[in-house]
Amino acid sequence: MSTNHTITLNNGIRVPWLAFGTGTALYGKDAADSVRIAIENGITHLDGAQMYNNEDTLGAGIKASGKPRSELYIVTKLNVLSPGETVKESLEASLKKLGVDYVDLFLIHSPAPASKEGRLKEWWQGMEEVNKAGLAKSIGVSNFRVEDLKVILDGTQIVPAVNQVFVPRTQIYTFNIVNGCLVQIELHPYVWKAARAIVEFGQEHGIVTASYGGQTPIVRVAGGPVDGVLSTIRQRLEKTRGQPVSSSQVLTKWILQKGAIVVT
Ligand SMILES: NC(=O)c1ccc[n+]([C@@H]2O[C@H](COP(=O)([O-])OP(=O)(O)OC[C@H]3O[C@@H](n4cnc5c(N)ncnc54)[C@H](OP(=O)(O)O)[C@@H]3O)[C@@H](O)[C@H]2O)c1
Repeated sequence: MSTNHTITLNNGIRVPWLAFGTGTALYGKDAADSVRIAIENGITHLDGAQMYNNEDTLGAGIKASGKPRSELYIVTKLNVLSPGETVKESLEASLKKLGVDYVDLFLIHSPAPASKEGRLKEWWQGMEEVNKAGLAKSIGVSNFRVEDLKVILDGTQIVPAVNQVFVPRTQIYTFNIVNGCLVQIELHPYVWKAARAIVEFGQEHGIVTASYGGQTPIVRVAGGPVDGVLSTIRQRLEKTRGQPVSSSQVLTKWILQKGAIVVT
């Protein structure tokens, strides 16, 4: 599918469906060359985060690509606030590293740090402020369960545009512990039963799901029951398409058919 295909958010803004991520493989590393190459190959949606500790090199890659700012969709995520720091100050520091005046999407990376201090609503108010100030064209969340979404939806002025998903713990997925309390989860067929409630709650409330870890069935837990299903679908599609189809393409299409943005 062309990288031009878009998914529309609750504020009418259109997001390129496929995002190139600067976490996981690039976590804490210089992302400049990878980002430049991704842009040269038609990717315009770039997923960064304060936590990845490489926003400056994401910015360098963007600059090196020569692509006009208006043709890119740049995302970063709020990690933690130092004592006394505001959401606006934190985003301004990110903008400086990225070398841009605004981001297209700013996400709270995890509900955990704010929830721990009972400050989730307050953090969301800070997000609303940066949205109104034009520093983030859209605002959203990441790794939020239904109960976390309910906290910020209660009395909010702006409904989150996106949730990069978190689902309750099941048997098969990888996880990271951040600040001792965050379990980051992925969206793929092995966790669909657990993820479904979050995706459907988002659909009911106009919150688009963005997925990460979508390639897990083939790259992290190969050998499971999904392998045979992927193979059957792949072979059927190869016949109708008359060209090779990869398991990765089938998985990506599966995520897209759930209405989710694909971050890989
Ligand atoms: N919001 C959050 O909390 C959160 C958490 C994790 C990640 N993310 C975001 O999501 C991005 C993606 O991370 P991920 O963990 O989801 O990684 P992923 O897309 O599942 O990719 C993991 C590995 O799969 C292989 N792979 C990817 N695409 C493939 C393809 N088309 N064909 C064959 N193999 C393929 C690559 O391995 P090789 O390198 O060996 O080729 C890659 O390193 C991150 O960079 C980050 O931006 C967000």
